[in-house]
Amino acid sequence: MVQVTPVQGDFVAVVDNVDLAYPLNDDEFAAVEMAFETYGVIVFPAQDITDDQQIAFSRRFGPLEPSVRRHRNRAVSNVFLSDISNVGSDGQIMAEKSEAMSYNRGNQLWHSDSSFKEIPSKASLLSAREVPPSGGETEFADMRAAWDTLSAEKQVEISDLVAQHSLAYSRATMGYDAGEKFMDVEKSEVPPVPQPLIRVSPVTGRKSLYVGSHAAYVDGMDRNAGRTLLDGLLAHAAEDRFIYIHNWAAFDLVMWDNRCINHRGRPWQSQKHRRVMRRTTIGGDGFDEAAALAIG
Ligand code: OGA
Ligand code: MN
Repeated sequence: MVQVTPVQGDFVAVVDNVDLAYPLNDDEFAAVEMAFETYGVIVFPAQDITDDQQIAFSRRFGPLEPSVRRHRNRAVSNVFLSDISNVGSDGQIMAEKSEAMSYNRGNQLWHSDSSFKEIPSKASLLSAREVPPSGGETEFADMRAAWDTLSAEKQVEISDLVAQHSLAYSRATMGYDAGEKFMDVEKSEVPPVPQPLIRVSPVTGRKSLYVGSHAAYVDGMDRNAGRTLLDGLLAHAAEDRFIYIHNWAAFDLVMWDNRCINHRGRPWQSQKHRRVMRRTTIGGDGFDEAAALAIG
């Protein structure tokens, strides 16, 4: 029987007694889905799976988002896999200044995956294939708790606000040159999109703060005032009491709920040690996989 063990309140649980290399039966899948909806982050240790097995398991949760970077020469060929690694298509560690390393450094800012898409992501699954001996942790922030602990005045103040989310914006803040480095097809796929500052779980009805690196400015507010507001909310959500730090072991698979969890990667000695992760990303309610693939 699938075993779910809470490790940090209602925020993080470890899931054992399940082999993601094989199709789960309906009872097993129901237990996993329940754990996912209850906890924002679920950890599956020791899952030595292939790309295809990861995709098959991920699909049970809904249609998959194609990677924005699928038009590039990457170490992975499947469009539904995001290559979160410092290893290029030649199998070697990539130069710190390379385009891909520069792009991936954006993952070190607090964010929710695909908040820059019109229909933002429901969940992500990240599988660790090779891990460095130290560093390279992933941190998670419980944005439900971050919302719950805002003052009543603050909750009212931001309740109807909408931010513009942009991949070009968040990458530019980390020094990735939006003008020159994005391909035209990428730029056309992800123009800035509006997202309310509060996201509500369609399953539990629970509210979460929905801000992160892609949130550029607040509609109807002076740019600086909006920035100050967003930065203040991000600082609140980054307090230790809302954080879980995942220290990766090879073949861990971690799944998180992008509707209510922020995350960020931590640096490591990326010119010395390989770190190879593969991500699958589940589309949010109403996401149309075929239509997404048809773009570009
Ligand atoms: C991601 C991501 C952070 C990390 O895969 O979406 O942001 O630690 N990863 O690699
Ligand atoms: Mn991410």
